[in-house]
Amino acid sequence: MARKPLIAGNWKMHGVLVDACQLAAGLKAHCRGLDDRDVLVAPPFTVISEVSHILRDTAIILAGQNVCWEGKGAFTGEISPVMLRDAGASAALIGHSERRQLFGESDSLVNRRLKGALQFGLTAILCIGETLEEREANRTLDVLERQLRAGLADVGGAQMSSVVVAYEPVWAIGTGKTATSAQAQEAHAFIRHVLADLFEKDIADQVRIVYGGSVKPTNIDELMAQPDIDGALVGGAALDVESFGRIIHFA
Ligand code: G3P
Repeated sequence: MARKPLIAGNWKMHGVLVDACQLAAGLKAHCRGLDDRDVLVAPPFTVISEVSHILRDTAIILAGQNVCWEGKGAFTGEISPVMLRDAGASAALIGHSERRQLFGESDSLVNRRLKGALQFGLTAILCIGETLEEREANRTLDVLERQLRAGLADVGGAQMSSVVVAYEPVWAIGTGKTATSAQAQEAHAFIRHVLADLFEKDIADQVRIVYGGSVKPTNIDELMAQPDIDGALVGGAALDVESFGRIIHFA
């Protein structure tokens, strides 16, 4: 089953308007004529609108770094799916480990956000991944299964065409330590196996599963050569246009 690769850049809490505009303009040049892969960026909320303006004549997908489940209402500090779409985004990261670890987002909150995103027509990028402690205690697969089942609770098979799963081992994020391609492949194959159990094999075979955690120009080719790795979710290296450009052009 051919899945279109997806290379995504998560800008996290980096960059004011001028930086974001420069990055977006640089990215445009790198993406010209690339139609065999999808490229996505998730800028901070405050610059999405401007970045969307710069990228308007490209196929680059814009995403929020998080999203509320309601269209509007008394949810101080939250951004709704309707607002994201209004700013030019068509996707949202959900359940990033920094949200789970630093802001206490639980599996059920993640599930709520994910269902809200889907309900309002966004593509949901569900992030899951184990901590170092969990890996060392041989609990990686249990954690992935729990996060996946809980995150996708009450989601129907037909909605899975709007879901991407991002496997991001917490110990590999921003640490310079990448999971080996074999470790990443093992996790991705397991995720696809759980998806097949949750939905059906045909659906699981269509879902893109991307890897995140210290992805760089030097390791992208090997990661992308794995059968169940369909792309990357890049943090640090996505802030440098040359590095991200090289990652986008993986072999
Ligand atoms: O969402 C991307 C991410 O958390 C990985 O970050 O800096 O290790 O590429 P980084």
